[in-house]
Amino acid sequence: MYKIAIDGPSGSGKSTLAKRLSAHLGFVYVDTGALYRAVGLYVYRAGADPKSSEEVEPLLGKISVGIKYIDGEQKTMLNGEDVSKEIRLPDISMYASAVSALPAVRKFLLGTQKDIIRTNNVIMDGRDIGTVIMPDAHVKIFLISNNETRAMRRCEELLEKGVTTTYEEVLADIVKRDANDSSRAVAPLTPAEDAVFLDNSTFTQDETFATALEIIKNRIDI
Ligand code: DC
Repeated sequence: MYKIAIDGPSGSGKSTLAKRLSAHLGFVYVDTGALYRAVGLYVYRAGADPKSSEEVEPLLGKISVGIKYIDGEQKTMLNGEDVSKEIRLPDISMYASAVSALPAVRKFLLGTQKDIIRTNNVIMDGRDIGTVIMPDAHVKIFLISNNETRAMRRCEELLEKGVTTTYEEVLADIVKRDANDSSRAVAPLTPAEDAVFLDNSTFTQDETFATALEIIKNRIDI
């Protein structure tokens, strides 16, 4: 089974790239951020503090998170409910980032991620894919782009989804989330030693895709 890991900060274009690569290569795409978002959503709905392990841990036993593929698209399921849309709301991004710092939550989602890898050629995106989830991945890409570019892209994405927000708010959220995700004690956002850096600040989506494909083809025979 081939394994491709794409890690990087919020808004660097991981999911856009991974989706396109998976369609091209016929691999299964797994958006691991969606799993943390589903846990974040549950905690949000429960009115619990996402930073508190005392409040979050007892909830984990009541949560079942899974993914389904409908027409090749990943749907994120929370206790049987399709929450794919709701988990994209800005409040839930923050909840996801906060709960993802809790060791119990990371452990809770480990099995789901490992199960998928076992049986499929995968492209997985996240924060710790190359370091923790698939340290033996055949290709590891660390995708980055500058803060302003990431904030602009996120704004456009949110606008398309009908979420009203401002550029300043989105930029502040991105900076805060980067800090949370990089500074946590367990599985922080950090490039694997053997990851290839791809900075797409000035790239179009086509250029990012072509560069990533080149990196992959140099490493695996496809
Ligand atoms: O990729 P995303 O923005 O949808 O991820 C949401 C949050 O989940 C992000 O702030 C950090 C966390 N996350 C993580 O800790 N590890 C992963 N593999 C994926 C996401």
